[in-house]
Amino acid sequence: MLPAAPLRRLSRPDVPLRSVEYGQTRHPVQVAHAGATYVGSDKCEKCHANAYAVWKSSAHSHAYQTLEKASRPSLRQYDAECVVCHVIGFGYQGGFGGEKQTPNLKDVRCESCHGPASLHVANPKNQAFREALNPWKAQPGEDGAKRVGRIDQSCQKCHDTDNDVRWSFDKWKLIAH
Ligand code: HEC
Ligand code: HEC
Ligand code: HEC
Ligand code: HEC
Repeated sequence: MLPAAPLRRLSRPDVPLRSVEYGQTRHPVQVAHAGATYVGSDKCEKCHANAYAVWKSSAHSHAYQTLEKASRPSLRQYDAECVVCHVIGFGYQGGFGGEKQTPNLKDVRCESCHGPASLHVANPKNQAFREALNPWKAQPGEDGAKRVGRIDQSCQKCHDTDNDVRWSFDKWKLIAH
């Protein structure tokens, strides 16, 4: 989910993160559906009220503020090495590119996990667009444990051993929707 591009430290808050050398990788949703881009979670609330309420009350909804509050050192919200897991779509086309440029893409939100949802929002009845946002449906012949393993792995792209030593898939219960 997170691009494998090399991360680079930034020290100038006025420089849009995107304008610095940083890969413009296509997210798998963008590979499948050219033109898909990020819209932010406010667009999801009216149709997915439950998922939105769960997300809003989770720690994911203030992940960017956590960087703003960080001290020793401070200004971590301008540090690409930190931002990558605390926003939407950093490093992907149309993803987070700075707090002024893309204020709606701060924090860990729906599209941090589901991918860029613009085509689905514009055309919610399109089944191919919907399916692209949920890669965790059981594959033919796949058992439940394997499916859960795939979800767990998607969490651990951010909840890795450096950043969450207490990771356990039980945490899904705290954000299930
Ligand atoms: C205008 C209504 C509408 C909006 C806005 C909307 N959706 Fe949906 N979405 C639907 C409908 C209808 C479905 C299919 C029924 C269901 O799963 O609830 C769906 C399904 C989904 C699914 C499940 C897909 C699957 O096949 O399992 C995901 C994930 C999803 N939406 C994410 C989002 C995200 C993220 C946003 C905001 C960026 C969003 N939706 C905005 C109507 C909407
Ligand atoms: C894009 C990166 C990213 C992904 C993917 C991600 N998380 Fe998180 N998660 C975070 C960050 C960052 C925080 C810390 C937010 C804060 O406190 O500011 C967090 C915090 C949490 C918390 C609250 C703190 C805790 O550890 O109890 C839960 C629960 C959680 N995540 C569950 C999940 C689950 C389950 C998945 C997979 C379905 C997942 N996360 C996927 C980045 C991510
Ligand atoms: C690979 C993804 C990833 C990167 C990179 C990352 N974080 Fe996080 N961060 C997380 C996750 C996941 C959590 C939630 C961990 C938990 O609940 O125990 C988190 C939680 C936090 C928290 C709140 C919990 C705490 O430990 O007090 C702070 C502060 C934080 N990160 C700051 C940073 C800073 C500063 C950087 C850059 C040096 C950074 N993060 C880089 C994924 C990441
Ligand atoms: C931390 C990652 C993460 C975040 C954030 C997140 N989701 Fe999900 N979402 C998932 C996963 C994983 C599943 C699949 C769960 C399963 O199949 O058991 C899922 C399932 C769904 C489904 C399908 C549910 C069903 O009945 O099949 C919808 C719709 C959805 N999410 C919408 C949203 C919306 C809207 C937001 C933001 C308000 C959001 N999600 C935020 C990871 C996330």
